[in-house]
Amino acid sequence: NMAAVITVDGPSGSGKGTICQLLARELDWHLLDSGALYRLTALAARHHGVELDDVEALEVLAAHLDVRFKPRKDGETQIILEGEEVTHAIRNERVGEDASVIAALAPVRSALLSRQRDFAGEPGLVADGRDMGTVVFPEAELKIYLDASAEERAQRRYKQLISKDPGASLDDILNDIKARDARDMNRAVAPLKPAPDAVRLDTTSMTIDEVLQSVLDEARHRG
Ligand code: C5P
Repeated sequence: NMAAVITVDGPSGSGKGTICQLLARELDWHLLDSGALYRLTALAARHHGVELDDVEALEVLAAHLDVRFKPRKDGETQIILEGEEVTHAIRNERVGEDASVIAALAPVRSALLSRQRDFAGEPGLVADGRDMGTVVFPEAELKIYLDASAEERAQRRYKQLISKDPGASLDDILNDIKARDARDMNRAVAPLKPAPDAVRLDTTSMTIDEVLQSVLDEARHRG
């Protein structure tokens, strides 16, 4: 597939998700939220009573994920798993934890590979994940790696959560983020790391709009 691709990788809380949505909307390109595929596999495992160490069953689930992404007029994408709406259910912290556990399994990752590449298409694709620039789209014309300090990422998550959950604890969130980072960066297959040719942005003291403008500038540079 020769369509243009911009990859955006980085740890959780780096602002990738928001930036990719805004970027895809601005360019009117397709969007791949690859983390959603790992989250959907984790949720499917729970629904089917599959244990997180049953590699063969997880591989089958990942290869046959019955999922539909339905863009809505308000810009949000509705996610339907086996006929059930799971748009919000997959954002749950437990599901994110489970996703990061099964994401360390090579057979699960390869089962999801062609499905991710199928998102590429005219006029272009914005691909959000951990290994978009290193493994899934190594030929992408623009690769971005977003980072921010763990403390800043914990603050951002805390601000999102506190309105819904007054009991949220900044310390707990920081510990979760550090544990997730360690698992994503230290796994043997497709660990989180910048591609050698990635443009690296530290977003710790940047606003979302500043990050978006920097990425758009890079994209325009490459024409
Ligand atoms: O980005 P998000 O938090 O939705 O991803 C959930 C988990 O899925 C991550 O913690 C990571 O372990 C895994 N993941 C991955 N490769 C990707 C996207 C997500 O391993 N390309």
